Amino acid sequence: MNELIDYALEEQEEDARPELTSHIENLNQYDTIFVGYPLWWYDLPQVMYSFFDEYDFSGKTIIPFDVHNGSRLSDTVAAIQELEPDAAVITDGFAVSHNNAPDASEDVVDWLEEIGF
Ligand SMILES: Cc1cc2nc3c(=O)[nH]c(=O)nc-3n(C[C@H](O)[C@H](O)[C@H](O)COP(=O)(O)O)c2cc1C
Repeated sequence: MNELIDYALEEQEEDARPELTSHIENLNQYDTIFVGYPLWWYDLPQVMYSFFDEYDFSGKTIIPFDVHNGSRLSDTVAAIQELEPDAAVITDGFAVSHNNAPDASEDVVDWLEEIGF
C-alpha cells in the first residue's frame, strides 16, 4: 500500500497520463454519465486525467462521485469542469468515506433522489 501511495504521488508530480487499459466504444449513446474514482492525494488519480483526455464530454452531463479517507471530493469537481469545459458537471457529487462505503447504499439512494434520479 505504501508503495502505491508513493507511486501515485510521483505520478501526480510528473503530471503523468497513464495509459487506459480499456476503452468506451459508445459514449455517444449517453447524455448523462456517472464518473466515479478514488481520491488520491487530494486530486483525481492521474489515470482519470488520461480518461478525460481520451473522451469529449461536450454537451453531456457528468455526475462525479468518489471514495475518500477524509478529503471528500477535494477540488475534483472543479478539476473535471476544467478538463471538460463544454460539459455540465454537477456540483453536488457524492463523496463516501472508505470506512462507510459498505453501508452507504441508503445515502446513495438519498443522494440520487436529491439530484433527480
Ligand atoms: C495513493 C492514494 C492516495 C490517497 N490520497 C487520499 C487523499 O488525499 N485524501 C483522502 O481523503 N483519501 C486519500 N486516499 C484514500 C482513498 O481515497 C480511499 O482509501 C480509497 O478511495 C478507497 O478505495 P480503494 O479501496 O479502491 O483504495 C488515498 C489512497 C491512495 C491509495
